[in-house]
Amino acid sequence: MQTKVAIIGAGPAGALLSHILDRAGVDNIVLERQSRSYVLERIRAGVLEWGTVETLREHGLADRLDVEGHVHDTINIAWRGTETLSVDTSEKIDRRMMAYGQTRIQEDLYAAADARGASIVFEASDVALHNVTTDSPYVTYRVNGTDERIDCEFIAGCDGFHGVSRQAIPESSRKEFEKVYPFGWLGILSETPPLPILLYVNHERGFGLCSMRNPMLSRYYVQAPITDSVDDWSDDRFWSELVGRLPSEHADQLVTGPSIEKSLAPLRSYVCEPMRHGNMFLAGDAAHIVPPTGAKGLNLAVSDVRYLSRAFIQHYQGDDSFLDSYSDMALRRVWGAVRFSWWLTTLLHRFPDQTAFDQRAQEQELSYLAASAAAQTALSEQYVGLPFE
Ligand code: APR
Ligand code: PHB
Repeated sequence: MQTKVAIIGAGPAGALLSHILDRAGVDNIVLERQSRSYVLERIRAGVLEWGTVETLREHGLADRLDVEGHVHDTINIAWRGTETLSVDTSEKIDRRMMAYGQTRIQEDLYAAADARGASIVFEASDVALHNVTTDSPYVTYRVNGTDERIDCEFIAGCDGFHGVSRQAIPESSRKEFEKVYPFGWLGILSETPPLPILLYVNHERGFGLCSMRNPMLSRYYVQAPITDSVDDWSDDRFWSELVGRLPSEHADQLVTGPSIEKSLAPLRSYVCEPMRHGNMFLAGDAAHIVPPTGAKGLNLAVSDVRYLSRAFIQHYQGDDSFLDSYSDMALRRVWGAVRFSWWLTTLLHRFPDQTAFDQRAQEQELSYLAASAAAQTALSEQYVGLPFE
């Protein structure tokens, strides 16, 4: 087979890239290791930056989002079991966020792929990248017991943190930056009405988060030791831990019920530089990971794809300047979100070696945030998303 861009991975990054390229008439094929249903069932975060919403709208992907998503313009943080800070981002910087399950974005992307008859090969195994530093790269893989080959001009590595594309950059040409946090997030979904606000909690017992998917679907998290297993956490234990971390005004409002999903996720920050090697370009989790605090993961995948799709489209119009600046431009925005999600994680979690001094310093930073309009503007600007270049 022959195409212009071979895309590895049909998560949010790969599926969105394929959609934008198809609309611009740039031929592409997507190879996905998993089945379609497996990809659709993965649970993801639920907050979209406004730039993500606008990007999806520009490409005709926001019909359902505009009906079912709800605009959310306050960041709420509780601490010391009594204080709550509420920042209105639309007042501070005139921009907002949208609460919309990222799982739905994956569904919307696949529905759009079906509608245009896109080429997504599911259950493609043994994907391997070849000749990436030449003008004739190609990808080999196996599907239904047959070996296949795609010759292409570019390869887009959108295959997530555990994908193969990043390994195509020799170790001597790649720099990796990593921070692993000494705790995880135990998350549940429950078919109960959510709290009316999205609430982050700093508490002596650890971080908590109350979020939502729709009027009858709530998403909650508590910080838990990464060595725990989901089986250590009965629903009763989860609810009593969460309630214990909330100020009483919110604890009193919380509606509990059986969980329909429960998982424990590790927290990590990771960046690979550069995001290009020859004619292979990385986008999304293939190049970087952020801890879930602040929900930047999918938003970064969308901004990478915004830059990369523009670079490919301009290349086919005779201009390589965006292709040549892709890695530097994408990394500037990536580091903005990596630094922000590290800061928010550090501010809101309890670290195993944390002393009473450290706890007070966190609480003081939160008190300062509550009192300073300038600090709230800085928080809002980063939370709703740094501008695109
Ligand atoms: N060959 C083909 N496909 C692969 C391979 C491989 N060797 N390895 C991984 N994949 C697929 C995965 O099965 C997955 O569907 O690549 C896709 C990568 O998708 P994501 O991991 O979702 O990454 P990305 O598209 O960059 O989206 C990032 O989504 O998962 C969240 O936390 C993540 O919010 C972030 C956003
Ligand atoms: C979520 O709804 O899953 C969510 C919301 C906000 C975050 C992280 C996750 O910062």
